[in-house]
Amino acid sequence: MNTRPMLKHARQLLLAGFLLAIASVTTAQGNPTHGQYIAKAAGCVGCHTVNKSGATPFAGGRALETPFGTFYGPNITPDKQTGIGSWSDSDFKRAIRQGERRDGSHYFPAFPYPSFTGMSDTDIQDLWAYLKSLPPAKQVNREHDLRFPYNLRFLVSGWKMLFFAPGLGSPVVPANDPVARGAYLVGVLGHCAECHTPRNFLGGPDKNERFAGAKIPEGKVPNLTPTRLKKWSDADLKEYLMTGNAPNGDVAVEPMSEVITNTTSQLTSADMAAVIAYLRTLPPRPEPK
Ligand code: HEC
Ligand code: HEC
Repeated sequence: MNTRPMLKHARQLLLAGFLLAIASVTTAQGNPTHGQYIAKAAGCVGCHTVNKSGATPFAGGRALETPFGTFYGPNITPDKQTGIGSWSDSDFKRAIRQGERRDGSHYFPAFPYPSFTGMSDTDIQDLWAYLKSLPPAKQVNREHDLRFPYNLRFLVSGWKMLFFAPGLGSPVVPANDPVARGAYLVGVLGHCAECHTPRNFLGGPDKNERFAGAKIPEGKVPNLTPTRLKKWSDADLKEYLMTGNAPNGDVAVEPMSEVITNTTSQLTSADMAAVIAYLRTLPPRPEPK
């Protein structure tokens, strides 16, 4: 019997299987370069890096003052003991999409997963590939310092029932639809509503006042709807989001200046145009009283 053709066939099958395996590994691994862009568009570094020069990016320890107390952004470098180096792909996805820890308990929404939950599967995968590519940094997490009863993690489940709807995974942003892309950049990645929407006494965003402006411990957050921004040209908005220089000569202060440095100034010009196009479509809303 001539085994040659069979062997050749088997070899071809093996080769095909091997190529398929490579293809699935590369997609499962994600694209760290694109992930780095997503991390910028989402401003991950700010809350996860101590606010002084020389601090290791993403190694945590940043104090975040809120009306409920002080949160400390945890270490999200791939260190196995003090960071998230022992996490699986699905642990990471669960944190971003569901706001759940590995033990099933809930993250506090000071981690803006109520916005990030809308991230696409590919963006989550690429973001994870990027974080895993960082040098592991050994830095033990600092405990949050929250006032009772806000320190009770299990109460977050009630908060989530009221204010959290998990994303569906694959927002379809049609190519050549800047408004849809802008909605994703502003509403999901840039989590702009987390500051620019007023919150009720439970810390829940007021949907009817989305982007109408708010008060935060650092001061007043302006209205982003056309009620206020119609006075700004597209060029004014772009200039502000790139440099912090407002048309009236003001310069952006914290925390917007950090958003500008870490996020909006890092956007591609197409994404910047998309952000502006989307802001123009917001329903006009008066400043909340
Ligand atoms: C506004 C501040 C803020 C931003 C922006 C932010 N985070 Fe966080 N993040 C936090 C806080 C605070 C926690 C801790 C929440 C808790 O303990 O319940 C956290 C927790 C996490 C955790 C869980 C870590 C652990 O050890 O359990 C991960 C992973 C994470 N963030 C990743 C990210 C990524 C990726 C981004 C960007 C897409 C990001 N974060 C943007 C504040 C932020
Ligand atoms: C951490 C809170 C925070 C986040 C997140 C945030 N902003 Fe802001 N934003 C502010 C504050 C505070 C100001 C006022 C800054 C000042 O007075 O200098 C501001 C000012 C602005 C202004 C100037 C408006 C005016 O009338 O003066 C624009 C435009 C703006 N933000 C757009 C955005 C966009 C777009 C995003 C998302 C990519 C965003 N912001 C995310 C807090 C935030």
